[in-house]
Amino acid sequence: MLVPFTWKVTGWFMVGWSPEFPVGEVRPLHYFGDDLVAYRDEHGELHVLEAHCKHLGAHIGHGGKVVGDCVQCPFHGWRWGPDGGNRYIPYQPDRPNRALRLRVFPPDGVTMEGLFTRSHVGGNNAVHGGMIPLLYDWHFGMIVSTAGLSPSRTAYLHVDYRNITPIDEPLTAYGRIAEIDGRKAFVTATMTAADGTLLTEANGLMVRVLPHQP
Ligand code: FES
Repeated sequence: MLVPFTWKVTGWFMVGWSPEFPVGEVRPLHYFGDDLVAYRDEHGELHVLEAHCKHLGAHIGHGGKVVGDCVQCPFHGWRWGPDGGNRYIPYQPDRPNRALRLRVFPPDGVTMEGLFTRSHVGGNNAVHGGMIPLLYDWHFGMIVSTAGLSPSRTAYLHVDYRNITPIDEPLTAYGRIAEIDGRKAFVTATMTAADGTLLTEANGLMVRVLPHQP
């Protein structure tokens, strides 16, 4: 159940060593109570997706195949990309179903899911612009905490507003540490709608406090 600001958080969980996932291999996983599929695409990038195909529900991790940067379902050959989107349907190769998307579990960072409600509304039934940096500040805290860099303080936080953020619709925020320099962690994040539309981008600097600092 999704309720305001009760975001399901996924931090960093080790599911194996990188060399254990050779190029072209598709492997079933089960973590966080979910069936997942891991595959390393032909370019060497590792991806983890929700396992059950959005066509008729086959487990892609059992018999799936890597094609380019996609993983192909063993049942009817639908292909899914690293962003979870449907890329290819054999009987209509030029018309993938862009409305269907598998959930993505990026190999690093923190993903939060949730929605804003009427209590966060600004003008024109959109989320108030001030709510979004507040959310990112919380998100950045989760990211550095998960990476073992807490306690940290926000030194700066910048948001680019790309599209109107709606209320009462499921949203996904994904962020990760882009660079660490001593006590500084440079963090980057995005928030997207259910159809993959980019709503906002954020970047910031989190600084780990010294033992004597408040
Ligand atoms: S169940 Fe996956 S393609 Fe049909």
